[in-house]
Amino acid sequence: MTPGSLPSSMQFTADGKLKHFLTIEGIPPLLLEEILDRSQQFVSLPDKAQVQAPLLRGKTVMNLFFENSTRTRTTFELAAKRLSADLVNMDIRTSSTTKGESLLDTIRNLEAMGCDMFVVRHSSSGAANFIARYCAPHISVLNAGDGRHAHPTQAILDMLTIRQYKGEFTPLRVAIVGDIKHSRVARSQIHALTTLCTGEVRLIAPKTLIPQGIEKMGVTVYNEIEKGIKDVDVVIMLRLQHERMKTALLPSVREYYARYGLTEERLQLAKADAIVMHPGPVNRGVEIDSRVADGSQSVILQQVTNGIAVRMAIMSMVMGSR
Ligand code: NCD
Repeated sequence: MTPGSLPSSMQFTADGKLKHFLTIEGIPPLLLEEILDRSQQFVSLPDKAQVQAPLLRGKTVMNLFFENSTRTRTTFELAAKRLSADLVNMDIRTSSTTKGESLLDTIRNLEAMGCDMFVVRHSSSGAANFIARYCAPHISVLNAGDGRHAHPTQAILDMLTIRQYKGEFTPLRVAIVGDIKHSRVARSQIHALTTLCTGEVRLIAPKTLIPQGIEKMGVTVYNEIEKGIKDVDVVIMLRLQHERMKTALLPSVREYYARYGLTEERLQLAKADAIVMHPGPVNRGVEIDSRVADGSQSVILQQVTNGIAVRMAIMSMVMGSR
């Protein structure tokens, strides 16, 4: 498959509404704030029974996950159901794409079943853009993570979590620690944090896990965690994405943990009320000590909970653009 490219402006309708949700890049600050406000409204809804908002009644959402996922797929599913949509989880492993059917043919067939929204996760960067470019005009495409490119709903749920604990972004120092090079999450977080005018965004990783020229995105790079984590308000840990490393970029996992693992001692260098985040899946003893992952400063499970509200907000916004 050749990933189609779609300028980020193509996420919008002619009157500036969100039609697809493919990347954070190019989303104006006011719209980002609006997405966060909408998400917070869904978080604040009193209980599940009342949350069965009929905003997507009669709509069909198809989850197309060509790559593994626990949190993202399940929270998209719950979000669609709580908005009263019909949801189909395509099991790609048992679908005809494994019999050589092209991605476009699969899409055409799913369209013929009357689909309104595709939620796409794929290991190729650009896959969601490709589908958005070639699918029927009434369909909205939500990117649930494409290769190393973007994971925009994850970045929104991370921003929502930061805002819930810390309020304004301008005075904040945020550190993202780990495998930045292979992380679509980091890329989307950086776009979101800079769009929201975060005081300082720091990236902490060994040189081999930092993409060249990343400073142009408005971040500061640190190769030593002890320096980078000093006095930060938020620490975001990332997993080592071994499946995307083409060559050995690290001496060993043990050495990585010794130099970059988030231990209780290292966390003490951050502000006393700093929060610890992780998009999951967490690899305990590789990038983070269990005592920190389960400790009082960890908001990792709050991120997961927020994922449902954020996906409800985005699904209702793109459907509202029609
Ligand atoms: C991430 C992903 O798949 O991009 N996880 C997630 O969606 N919550 C991060 C990862 O795989 O490490």
